[in-house]
Amino acid sequence: MTDKSSTKKFAGTNSAAPSGDGRIEISNVTKIYDPGGVNVCAVSDCSFDIEAGEFCVVVGPSGCGKTTLLNAIAGFHSISDGEIRLDGDVLCSATKMAEPGADRMVVFQNGALFPWCTVLKNVMYGPSVQGRMTSHQARAAALDILRELGLSEIGDAYPNEISSGMRRRVEIARALINDPKALLLDEPFRALDALTKGVAQEFLLQAYDRMKKTVFFITHDLEEALFLGTKVVIMTTRPCRVRKMITVDLPRPRTYKVRSSKRYLELKREVFDAVHEEALKAFKAGERELA
Ligand SMILES: Nc1ncnc2c1ncn2[C@@H]1O[C@H](COP(=O)(O)OP(=O)(O)O)[C@@H](O)[C@H]1O
Ligand SMILES: [Mg+2]
Repeated sequence: MTDKSSTKKFAGTNSAAPSGDGRIEISNVTKIYDPGGVNVCAVSDCSFDIEAGEFCVVVGPSGCGKTTLLNAIAGFHSISDGEIRLDGDVLCSATKMAEPGADRMVVFQNGALFPWCTVLKNVMYGPSVQGRMTSHQARAAALDILRELGLSEIGDAYPNEISSGMRRRVEIARALINDPKALLLDEPFRALDALTKGVAQEFLLQAYDRMKKTVFFITHDLEEALFLGTKVVIMTTRPCRVRKMITVDLPRPRTYKVRSSKRYLELKREVFDAVHEEALKAFKAGERELA
């Protein structure tokens, strides 16, 4: 199966950061798991760029290869072909695996706060344990970021004393204290109920508007993608490559009210149409495989 458009480079137009800090270039990336054995091609010849400071949301069917792509950027596994660059430097290629680093902080689906540490200690943990800050500096930085993000009141609470939505916010603060170039989030709000999710999304938008980090955000929730992103990259079914890219030209700062705007509804139709077409294609391919 070949698709000429897959080798085309997509680039966003809605850059929010002033410099080239945090620009990610994904070029012709292929990832094959266990090539000598089960040989699962998760990502195939996938190319797109994320501008510095851009909020890029990646959507696609379950199992299409989104997490595989994020893990390659984070340095959790290798790629089989192509390369990924950060600010022009090769992060990973067929011969080089990215090293995990504080310049790319990951917020996982299931969260990872230490239950035995207060919120403040959780937030200051990374930079102090990695020796990038003294414990005194890390504490001051953690207090700063909690204040900046409106979380000061829960600094002394333990994770099991705050709501799941609050825990997600603390995890975002814990990532941002490292002043990363890029924030990589893999369906961070997946398990939240609709109301909590809406509030957590608004929190992330406020953090983004303040910090202007490059964001790589995975979700299968199309409304979430539109609400948060400056661009939405719609992936094909596995193996993952770019199906369509949509620039989300909704005004910022955004609040939940944007969801009832005319432009939001237009974009929603565009995203849903693209995803629906892709789902039909996958369904037909499945029928052919069974025939
Ligand atoms: N370690 C692995 N070995 C073999 N196949 C894997 C491995 N990890 C993921 N896969 C497969 O690669 C495909 C893409 O997985 P993933 O990137 O997790 O998808 P997504 O995040 O889009 O749901 C899936 O079919 C999955 O089963
Ligand atoms: Mg995934």
